[in-house]
Amino acid sequence: MSAFETVIYEKLNNVAHVTLNRPRALNAYNIRMRDELYEILGAIRDDDEVRVTILKGAGEKAFCAGADLTEFLTAPPPVFARQARFERDIWGLFTGIQKPFIAALHGYVLGSGIEMSLCCDIRLCSDNARFGLPEVTLAIIPAAGGSQTLPRTVGRSNALDVLLTGRWLNAKEAKRMKLVNRVLPVRELYAEAERLAHRIKDCDPRAVTCAKQAITRGLDMSLEEGLSLEKTLGRLLINSSSG
Ligand code: COA
Repeated sequence: MSAFETVIYEKLNNVAHVTLNRPRALNAYNIRMRDELYEILGAIRDDDEVRVTILKGAGEKAFCAGADLTEFLTAPPPVFARQARFERDIWGLFTGIQKPFIAALHGYVLGSGIEMSLCCDIRLCSDNARFGLPEVTLAIIPAAGGSQTLPRTVGRSNALDVLLTGRWLNAKEAKRMKLVNRVLPVRELYAEAERLAHRIKDCDPRAVTCAKQAITRGLDMSLEEGLSLEKTLGRLLINSSSG
């Protein structure tokens, strides 16, 4: 089903499987991958058959070792590569999709790798996972939304601790920080991601997207606005099922 060079896209029983597929470069995120992911995310958003998506990385060593450093080193570094990334709002597209995403993370989860996982709703990792946002050590800051999605996930001080130092976390620390929901033995990682995906896709798809909206949009609102959003979405669901 997949016609892409850097990503494998498969659809099976209402579950989309997106696999970053540059294992020889530890699935580093390059411009080609950005363009292919952009296309795939648009398809996921628009395809009613897709109810939930699992995002993972090919090969044994990494989910994703961050932005492709060979592109960073092309002149004029690193502005050119960054400019190309800003041209398509892939992260706006990703975080705007109301269907759930599950990230299954193993090995190196660095830079854009963490950031991609932060665009997902549930993060599972294997016990060999290692996380890091080394951008400041490269004289840049995250550009895939990480400076915003990380503090919203792990809180301000944890986010600053990771971002200002570039230090790495192992799976246990990532779990303690609530960066991941669950740590699993490597051999159980994908089976657990599939179990979760199937649980979600067997629920009412409209209720699932409304629940995701209520939480993700509500978190950026006051409690009063959030409660109003909940009421609106609840009514929408009832009206659509009775109409
Ligand atoms: N961009 C491009 N290529 C990368 C890459 C990246 N971010 N990360 C790894 N690779 C490539 C390596 O160049 C190497 O290619 P080669 O076999 O052609 O030489 C291959 O992936 C395997 O990596 P290697 O460094 O040999 O594996 P390792 O297990 O010794 O080390 C890391 C793994 C992740 C510690 C190391 O690759 C690394 O530090 N990568 C850069 C991480 C980074 O700074 N990312 C940017 C975040 S903004």
